Amino acid sequence: MSIFLGFLFLFPLFLILFKKLLPSKRKLPPGPRGLPIIGNLHHLGRSLHSVFHKLSLEHGPVMLLHFGVVPVVVFSSKETAKEVLKTHDLETCTRPKLVANGLFSRNFKDIGFTQYGEDWQEMKKLVGLELFSPKKQKSFRYIREEEGDLLVKKISKSAQTQTLIDLRKASFSFTAGTIFRLAFGQNFHECDFIDMGRLEELVLEAETNVCILALTDFLPTGLGWLADRISGRHSRMNKAFSKLTNLFQHVIDEQLKIGQLQDHSNLVSAMLDMINRPSKFSSFNITSNHLIAMMSGVVLAGVNAGTITMVWIVTELIRHPRVMKKLQAEIRATLGSNKERITEEDLQKVEYLNLVIKETFRLHPPSPLLLPRETMSDIEIEGYHIPKNALIRINTYTIGQFNPERFSNTSINYKGQDYELLPFGAGRRSCPGMNLGITILELGLLNILYFFDWSLPNGMTIEDIDMEEN
Ligand code: HEM
Repeated sequence: MSIFLGFLFLFPLFLILFKKLLPSKRKLPPGPRGLPIIGNLHHLGRSLHSVFHKLSLEHGPVMLLHFGVVPVVVFSSKETAKEVLKTHDLETCTRPKLVANGLFSRNFKDIGFTQYGEDWQEMKKLVGLELFSPKKQKSFRYIREEEGDLLVKKISKSAQTQTLIDLRKASFSFTAGTIFRLAFGQNFHECDFIDMGRLEELVLEAETNVCILALTDFLPTGLGWLADRISGRHSRMNKAFSKLTNLFQHVIDEQLKIGQLQDHSNLVSAMLDMINRPSKFSSFNITSNHLIAMMSGVVLAGVNAGTITMVWIVTELIRHPRVMKKLQAEIRATLGSNKERITEEDLQKVEYLNLVIKETFRLHPPSPLLLPRETMSDIEIEGYHIPKNALIRINTYTIGQFNPERFSNTSINYKGQDYELLPFGAGRRSCPGMNLGITILELGLLNILYFFDWSLPNGMTIEDIDMEEN
């Protein structure tokens, strides 16, 4: 009897032990075999999204890799993207704490790199009010239109003297000029501490450094730290960030000189006005670190995506003369033949431009992997177990023919409800700058396509165009 009672008592304990010793029945996603310590780091190349794309053709739309010791799950179909960004949005909407992101966001005090929680929500509310609200958008309209006029003036000068235009520089000057004026209150076209060329170098240097994979994040403690210092990665990142902070300090000094911070005429002056004052944003106190982090976020998230998209659109139009001809004819017919300037009244009128923008986003999304996410709890997608604290990447990269007509007679849009077209992401962490980004893009395109005809430099053919994604 006592043996029987003892067995009854110990049986549940045996069961627990047995379960722990057996390999987990939960099915992990398939993926390429990794090496000890480095995992799959040796599989990666310069362009992460095309490496993931090639690997997914072999391993499927849910794929597990290891960057060193960190599990990384890559989702590569519209169905699985929907599972992550819609069904499991809440469990996957935090960001991993990567060293470069922590550096550029002053220890996660921005919006884009900050972990999900109250601080992120408060910062998002603040920017929603001071930068993206319909009221602000209306009051900044004259800035965007003036920048459009300036773009036309610059291109006209080159056209008159028959000199080549560097479209990347012209697009950067327009996009960055607009965003920095409305977010920082700073006109970089007329500025005595930096010129547009240098500003472009700084933005590119910051972007490159924030996107680089730091081994500190992935290799076992100490090893990655040492490797980043020996390779110079750590020092390059710090240099890039300190150059940006220097620039920000100049901008802040200018705003303090102008004064009238209480008018909240731009994001920087509004935040300067709020620093160290009890805020209307609950117990959340804005500090100078939040301000620097936010400025860094505007530089990293706001400028290059629009610039790159404008360059891709004109590149695809030059490669496809039929589309260029049709688009310019539609723009000129819709807006009339003797306009002196493009205004925001002209936006959203040319349906074919909308199709061209969608098709360019489909083939050349500026952030094909969106921003990294991290699981906050175990989840299951397509029967695969995705563990807590796994790094999540959504790969939106596609290869195909440029054909804007594929979007005619469909309701597919880029606003985050159609998972085959996600240039701005979807769910809680989708891009809050989407409306502003699209307005600037469309305004820039209407200006350059209404007033000018475009062609390649003498001696260059369509085949010479470098279509490599960087
Ligand atoms: C064509 C223009 C733009 C494109 C294609 C674009 C694209 C994106 C993408 C793909 C993300 C990541 C979404 C995700 O992880 O799910 C993002 C996030 C973000 N974008 Fe944009 N963006 C553009 C313009 C802007 C502008 C003009 C601003 C601000 C001035 C901005 C501010 C942000 C911020 C703050 C985030 C982080 C959101 C968060 O993590 O909560 N973006 N954007």
